[in-house]
Amino acid sequence: DIKGFTFDLDGVITDTAKFHEQAWKQTAEEVKTPWSDQLAADLKGISRMDSLEMILKAGNHEKSYSHEEKVALADQKNKKYQQLIKQLTPADILPGMEKLLNDLKSAGYQMSLASASKNAPGILKQLGISDYFKGIVDPATLHAGKPDPEIFVRAGEILGFRAEEMIGLEDAPAGIKSIKGAGQTALGIGPATKTAVPDLYFDNTAEVSLAAIKERMA
Ligand code: G6P
Ligand code: MG
Repeated sequence: DIKGFTFDLDGVITDTAKFHEQAWKQTAEEVKTPWSDQLAADLKGISRMDSLEMILKAGNHEKSYSHEEKVALADQKNKKYQQLIKQLTPADILPGMEKLLNDLKSAGYQMSLASASKNAPGILKQLGISDYFKGIVDPATLHAGKPDPEIFVRAGEILGFRAEEMIGLEDAPAGIKSIKGAGQTALGIGPATKTAVPDLYFDNTAEVSLAAIKERMA
């Protein structure tokens, strides 16, 4: 029986994935890495420093920057990102997601957050949905980011259920891999997740509901 849900944030609960992309695109321009849809897709769910390394590598210059320069580039990206999310309000919750959180809470399910973003606690507050979550994994304490299972294992530990009793929600292939590695049921949202073969699939957040999940799990 399913008892809990482990949630990704960016691209699942709110459309901040587009702001991450916009900010990274600017970094790519600065380090002269050609931008592509593939690179943008590959960056989804990846931690800040790992994302920067991927951008540098895609331009073949991961060796041309010192550690300090890399930290400065990552800081710059985060400042740009924080500028872009300043105006986030509850109206920016993706279609169907507040109803899902509400329905899950009413039905007695527990929720935790497995976001790689250090900005996640602030974003939940801006969206007015912090109280739905029993806890948030602090990505600064992780040894390895998505696709490693660690973040979803930790989100599961917050809830205290067995892996088979939890469903993880993700919009990124790296996240689907992480959920599956943690032994939870992987719910993928959007065509990009298909490459990682989620256990349950929905085209968009509007289609994700407790009723639809129950039907597919039956
Ligand atoms: C999420 C997003 C990624 C982002 C990562 C780190 O996983 O999907 O695009 O790079 O969080 O976010 P942060 O806010 O800590 O830079
Ligand atoms: Mg995401």
